[in-house]
Amino acid sequence: MISVIIPIYKEAENISAISTEVNSVLSNAGFKHEIIPVDDNSQDGTKKICASLIKSLPLRLIVRKKKKGLSYSVIEGIENAVYDIIIVMDADFSHPPSALPKMIDAILKNKADFIIGSRYVKGGVIDENWGVFRRINSKIATLITKPLTKVKDPMSGFFCFYKKNMPDKKILSPIGYKICLEIMVKGNFLRIKEIPIRFTNRTKGTSKLGLKEQINFILHLIKLYLFSYPKYAQFILFAAVGATGFVLDFLIYMGLQKLFGINHIVARGLSFWAAASSNWALNRNITFSARQKSLKLKQWIFFLITSSFGFSVNFGTYYFLTKYIYFFKKYLLTAFIIGIFAGLFINFILSASFVFKKIDANK
Ligand code: GDD
Ligand code: MN
Repeated sequence: MISVIIPIYKEAENISAISTEVNSVLSNAGFKHEIIPVDDNSQDGTKKICASLIKSLPLRLIVRKKKKGLSYSVIEGIENAVYDIIIVMDADFSHPPSALPKMIDAILKNKADFIIGSRYVKGGVIDENWGVFRRINSKIATLITKPLTKVKDPMSGFFCFYKKNMPDKKILSPIGYKICLEIMVKGNFLRIKEIPIRFTNRTKGTSKLGLKEQINFILHLIKLYLFSYPKYAQFILFAAVGATGFVLDFLIYMGLQKLFGINHIVARGLSFWAAASSNWALNRNITFSARQKSLKLKQWIFFLITSSFGFSVNFGTYYFLTKYIYFFKKYLLTAFIIGIFAGLFINFILSASFVFKKIDANK
């Protein structure tokens, strides 16, 4: 028994045809099923169309009052599904309904725990009218996703699995479009199988994939890397944030002097606070976004204290090396860099342990 989830936004031109086609493919293959379009309140007549489709199809429309995007629509649809096998697919015929029986069969015969309708395995095809830009874009996106999954087409939005294997909602936090990737990376699927499909470009309506979704994709990837490689990714991000802080620190230090004629000692003192505050905000929202959201003021003060401590270690290392070790008297810059790393390391340890605390699993 199959629940087909179709996220839709302004698909009034497609919803009737896709539902009818999915229904006939599944009926012919002898599957009991339901079709759940999840609409982000398109206001384009979708409601009316679905109201009349209900008369002849096992269809249940979910309309969300507030638009929360493709991925959360899919999650809501899956939550509402009553059958045990889930299929997710697009409304615009990019994902051929004719592939459904094969995908379901692979799940039923226990050939895998997660099935993807794939463009990039042998036999998979992309329609010629899919633009060059989209192709290159898709290839690059696939490439930078490699460390997260071995799948050939992780960008697909056409997939099938048992509802009981859906990862806990609490650990899901997709940003943007790639819900398949999110479920695949966070779920416990040991065997993932790709079934070749012919991916066709939509003929009706327009794609919603814009620049905003590209940025969302990068933010989503950062989150998934943090999930899969928590230690390394966190440290690298923390260092990257530190580097932005360094630039900001320098710009403000120079700016205050050149633009406002402020004394260099005062400028040095002021710029540190601004840079450290920016580091704090970035770490709170990116590096440690999955940690406890402690009270802002308290956390900010804590961060400034640990940053000052980190800076003392940085400065102390530099001072010690250049004062007592002959080698570094000649190579000041080397001492400078070692100091930065020592400070960074201490800062990271303190931040990760005391400022951005882990969420208590027992609460
Ligand atoms: N509920 C809801 N909310 N649905 C949405 C939203 C939204 O904000 N945005 C898009 N959708 C629906 C569309 O109506 C369509 O049914 C499906 O999600 C995919 O949207 P498209 O705009 O057609 O996406 P695409 O063609 O750019 O992307 C497709 O190709 C990718 C592979 O390159 C999708 O299949 C992706 O899932 C796939 O990863
Ligand atoms: Mn599409």
